[in-house]
Amino acid sequence: MSDRYLSAHALVPLLRDLPSDTPLYRALADRLRLLAIDGRIPPDTRLPSERDLAQTLGASRTTVSQAYAALRTDGFLSSRRGSGSLLHAPGSRPGTLGPDVPALDLTKATMPAASQLAAAAAAAAADLPRHLLRHDYDPVGLPALRQALADRYTGLGLPTAPEQIMVTLGAQHAIGLVASTHVRPGDRAVVEMPTYPHALDALVAAGGRPVAVPVDARTGWDADALLRAVATGPAVAHLMPDHHNPTGAIMPDELRTAVCHAAARSGAVVVVDETTAELDIDRPDPWTPFARHAAEGTQVVTIGSVGKTLWGGLRLGWVRADVETIARLVAARHVHDLGTPILEQLVLLHALPHLADVAETRRAQLRASRDHLTALLAQRLPTWDVPHVHGGLALWVGLGEAYSSRLALAARERGLAITAGPRFGTGGEFERHLRVPITAAPEVLDEAVDILARAWDAVAASPARPGHAFVDASVPV
Ligand SMILES: Cc1ncc(COP(=O)(O)O)c(C=O)c1O
Repeated sequence: MSDRYLSAHALVPLLRDLPSDTPLYRALADRLRLLAIDGRIPPDTRLPSERDLAQTLGASRTTVSQAYAALRTDGFLSSRRGSGSLLHAPGSRPGTLGPDVPALDLTKATMPAASQLAAAAAAAAADLPRHLLRHDYDPVGLPALRQALADRYTGLGLPTAPEQIMVTLGAQHAIGLVASTHVRPGDRAVVEMPTYPHALDALVAAGGRPVAVPVDARTGWDADALLRAVATGPAVAHLMPDHHNPTGAIMPDELRTAVCHAAARSGAVVVVDETTAELDIDRPDPWTPFARHAAEGTQVVTIGSVGKTLWGGLRLGWVRADVETIARLVAARHVHDLGTPILEQLVLLHALPHLADVAETRRAQLRASRDHLTALLAQRLPTWDVPHVHGGLALWVGLGEAYSSRLALAARERGLAITAGPRFGTGGEFERHLRVPITAAPEVLDEAVDILARAWDAVAASPARPGHAFVDASVPV
């Protein structure tokens, strides 16, 4: 039996705002399909029994039965006697076909590799023979790469020794390691809301209890809420101060300093995710590492990556922390993997000197796409609220209506995969938001916005079910 179970009570908030022009069973099945595809419900989660869900929703048992049957037909649900009904996107289980990903995919905010990468790879291949006899499993990183990454921080005004750097398999690997070493079951973990979903997943997987701090695309962090949350002494606070994903917000310097002081007093470890820090477009001040604001006693663990500058496919990132923390992370690493590939590290070593040029190119690409997307949305979807961003990966658009999941589904049916707002929150929040990446080229955005506009028309033509019992019918109000 699957050990992941979603109760009817936990499921109800994810089923809000279903369309009114589709039979209820179909609308339910469609929403559950989307929740499986976008990861809000992890693969092989056991759904509530038909009876429980029907009762909690205030719907008929037949409706829920029909919805589950439709999911089974579509390959999203397997029901076995004694195991309950397990939800999964086709392709998330061994031996099944991959999910049909539409041709246009805006679920990932990434760009193709930087043009400098091919030459760096050739140079790395030529370099490899020198390393073949010396290195094999490398849990901490090649000395030359650790030195080069440390020198970058030092050059940015944050003196760093190579012993303070650990090379990882991307930033996500680093987040997972920090979560597994610094968060114990039941610990509080401060997270921004909305947030980068896979960081939230990692903290929750380690047993952390999320403490949400609001971030708004126009006004940024709720400073009081953030300082209060850090002051209560959570185990960690995961922050994206430079180009917060998904809002693009930039944390003001005074707040950085205040967070560092609060963390120094409370003992919270500030996990600073700077994966998107270098994606500047036109911010007034150049980026400097958050850890420069650390006060006496602040524990800052900085996470970096070249996934958004050089190439996501390189799968390289790093941690910068004090030497003891690095030792802890290295010691914990072998549970999931035994080291970072040498060849990839050599590629990064050869590419690093070009990073300033790469960043310049990215800046131009992001500016073109941001400006193009902003103009397109103003023209095609004038009721949407499109805040200005100075950098980062995406626009966090306000839809004005709680249609995000329905819109994502309608777009998918028309050939565009895009992630609904609630994937960036918890418990069904952010149905009024949509993340639209600015990492795609303008011509791709033309096509994507055309689909979004058509999908929006279809969704808006069918308002959400009025007064339907998609508040939890079993809870007295
Ligand atoms: C804020 C943030 N952190 C971490 C990651 C993961 O980065 P990587 O590809 O280096 O694992 C991403 C990727 O989208 C991200 O946006």
